This record gives sequence, structure tokens and C-alpha cells, in this order.
Amino acid sequence: MTDLAAKLDRVVEHLRTAKRITALTGAGVSAASGIPTFRGTDGLWKKMKPDMLASPEAFAHDPKLVWEWYDWRRRHVRDAAPNGAHDVLARWSRERPGFTLITQNVDGLHERAGAARLLRLHGSIWHVRCAQPCPAGAVEWRDETVPFPTLPPRCPHCGGFVRPAVVWFGEPLDPDVMTAAAAAAACEVFFAIGTSAIVYPAAGLVQAAKRLGAFTVEINTEATPASALVDVSLRASAGEALERLALRISGSHR
Ligand code: OAD
Repeated sequence: MTDLAAKLDRVVEHLRTAKRITALTGAGVSAASGIPTFRGTDGLWKKMKPDMLASPEAFAHDPKLVWEWYDWRRRHVRDAAPNGAHDVLARWSRERPGFTLITQNVDGLHERAGAARLLRLHGSIWHVRCAQPCPAGAVEWRDETVPFPTLPPRCPHCGGFVRPAVVWFGEPLDPDVMTAAAAAAACEVFFAIGTSAIVYPAAGLVQAAKRLGAFTVEINTEATPASALVDVSLRASAGEALERLALRISGSHR
């Protein structure tokens, strides 16, 4: 039996009896769909500085440049499809009432795979909101226009610029979403999947889960700061590890 197979068996032992299971996902889950990660070898932040594209200051300085980047990403994501990792997580979220899926991803691929009760820590690239105080209030709305005919797109209520309803560097997370995510860290099995585990507060959920007594599992193609903390570190792609776990749970495969 390979080292990976032995580790998968250990995780399955816990999954068989666990009622409360939580998975935190990051960009690595969408890698097999062709969506670039942020910090990998060809990661987005290798070529561009986050504070030049994903911060309120960047938007104030050059909203068109920021929107060109988001418009490009929206096009890329629209043309991509969920992969096996999204499919397994979506199935678990539908079939297991105690399963909570938390994502840092803004791409919408978990939703397209049919995930239920998804907690989006960093918002959605498919939602926008007015970038300034607007008479319509601080609402966000879904807008799947790709590409926008003019950039930056304008608010239908006040004519000002709209911005992507994502959490940028230096911005707080939605407190309700964060509270729900923190509550879900109190579980029996906690997965950190395809995340570099360095962006807080999301990364703190792994430590919280461990502290609260969860059996913690990392699935990542590379080592991360979470690797030494978790009970089992699976060095594998998200799709392979999750599909093999799903098969083992259903008992139809070794
Ligand atoms: P990162 O790009 O930082 O990390 C992606 C992780 O996925 C890395 O640890 C890779 O080793 C791993 N990985 C790559 N391919 C994989 C695969 N097929 N299977 C499993 N793992 C794989 O992405 P995040 O951790 O999601 O925030 O980044 C966190 C946040 O930082 C993002 O939400 C974004 C970013 O800047 C904001 O935009 C606010």
C-alpha cells in the first residue's frame, strides 16, 4: 500500500462516523479547471502585485485597469468548467447535512457544481456593487455580463462606477459569513484543500479547527504552513484525493 493510500484510509475511518465535516477551499481546487492560482509557479501574484489590482487603493487610482483584470478573469472563468474536486465537494454538501463548505474562491465554480450552503469568505467575481455611497444603498447584485461593453461598468442607480463585490486586501470580511465559518470550525473532520494557508483570517480556521478537536486534513500538491499542523497531509491534487476518498467511502473501490 502506498503512503497516500494509507493516509486516505486513515481519513476515511474518520469520515465514516463523522457527523460534522467542514472543508475550506482555495485556488488549488480550481487549478484543474484551468484557473490560475495566486501563488503557484504560474500564479497570478508572480506576475502582478496584489495591491496594484486587488485593493481599494488600486481601484481609486485606476478603476479601468482593475476592471480590465476582473473582466479578463470573468471571461476565463466563464469558459471553464467545474472539475472532479468541485463535484465531490458539491455532492457531499448536498448529501451530508453536517457538511459545511467554505471557500476563498470567487470564481463561482463550487456553485456551478451544485454546492449547497456555501460560505464565500472573499465574495464572488459574479457580484458587483456601487463603489461609492449610492442612493440605492449598499446592496450587491449579480451581473454576468462578459465582457462589459465599457469599463468600468456604471451603477444603474447613480451612474457612478461599480466594483466587483469581492474582498480586497485591507478590507474586512463579511462578519456574518466569518461567524458562520468560525462556527463550522467546530467539527469532527476539517479539510484545508488547495490553499496556501497564508491569507488570514481564512488560514486561521485550520488552527481553530485543530484547537477545537477536529481531525484535520490537508490536501495540497505542495507543502504549506498548515502541513505541519494537520493530522494528515495528503500530497495530491484536490481532484485525485477527493475522488479517491469518495470512492472509498462508497466502499466500491480501494
Ligand atoms: P494560493 O494561490 O495562495 O494557493 C493555492 C494553493 O493550491 C497552493 O498551496 C498550491 O500548492 C495548491 N494547489 C495548486 N494546484 C493544486 C491542485 N490541483 N490540487 C490541490 N492543491 C493545489 O490560493 P489561496 O490559498 O486560495 O484573496 O489564496 C488565498 C487568497 O489569496 C485568495 O482568496 C485571494 C488571494 O490573494 C483575495 O483575493 C482577497
